Amino acid sequence: MQELTDKIALITGAGAGIGHAISKALNNAGATIIAVARNGNNLQQLQQQLSNNANQYWLIDLSNKEGQHQLLKQLEAFSFPHIVVCNVHVKSEKKRLINTTTENFSKDFTVNIDHLFTIMEKTLQFQRTKNFGRWIGISSYAAHVGLPGQAIYNAQKTTMQSLFLSLAVEEGKHGITANIVSPGLIETPSVKKSIPKEMFDKLAVMNVAKRAGQPEEIAAAVKFFASTSAGYITGVNLPVCGGAQLAWHFS
Ligand SMILES: NC(=O)c1ccc[n+]([C@@H]2O[C@H](COP(=O)([O-])OP(=O)(O)OC[C@H]3O[C@@H](n4cnc5c(N)ncnc54)[C@H](OP(=O)(O)O)[C@@H]3O)[C@@H](O)[C@H]2O)c1
Repeated sequence: MQELTDKIALITGAGAGIGHAISKALNNAGATIIAVARNGNNLQQLQQQLSNNANQYWLIDLSNKEGQHQLLKQLEAFSFPHIVVCNVHVKSEKKRLINTTTENFSKDFTVNIDHLFTIMEKTLQFQRTKNFGRWIGISSYAAHVGLPGQAIYNAQKTTMQSLFLSLAVEEGKHGITANIVSPGLIETPSVKKSIPKEMFDKLAVMNVAKRAGQPEEIAAAVKFFASTSAGYITGVNLPVCGGAQLAWHFS
């Protein structure tokens, strides 16, 4: 039997890049996947690559209240998850702080975690009955170093990090863990599209591995935190960034 057989894993932003790779990794470990994204073609492609007839592919826009409530309703009808991977990234405008207004900030600040509050109470109640829960947040190494033009993005990610620390503390005695994975530069379709090649190549070598990471390398870390054997690891923030956190990566 595979380690995650009988476990249901919700992955937000599962249609492409890192979320796609996480869905595949958890499915390979036996989990039933609830994949959430907006692009139907991407979800269809994912469906062709996963095995398990019980998997769910839900077209939901998580950036608004309607979508967040739709997620809750669909979970109520199907099942709440044992594993939650908060990977979605609703893009916000990149602005330097000098150009950022209160309106920009309050519009985008919590957009990537709002859905968690909609589903949290009932998901935790479900997980408590199982004495098992895994919450994994996909943050960013950028939130550790403060990239220019990324203030709102960084604030979103550090907010999720703090939230997960409280989750770890409050729910630990119920067999529920909460951990963060902080990717460095990962070669996903959206990153390749949004960063000019010259810039991408420069960023890719700002670590000791001297290359960009692959989505599967983030998925491997998520799969570890999601595993039944990782129950004694909680409140951790794991950089998966080719050693970018080391001071002398440019040696
Ligand atoms: N790639 C990197 O270098 C890197 C580095 C650090 C951190 N990260 C983090 O890793 C996560 C995944 O990154 P990625 O590069 O794989 O991003 P991506 O390719 O842009 O994927 C994001 C996913 O979110 C979905 N999504 C976007 N808006 C949505 C919405 N409103 N409702 C529902 N789903 C939505 C997208 O699918 P649809 O368009 O179909 O909705 C897609 O499946 C993000 O949280 C990102 O911040 C990435």
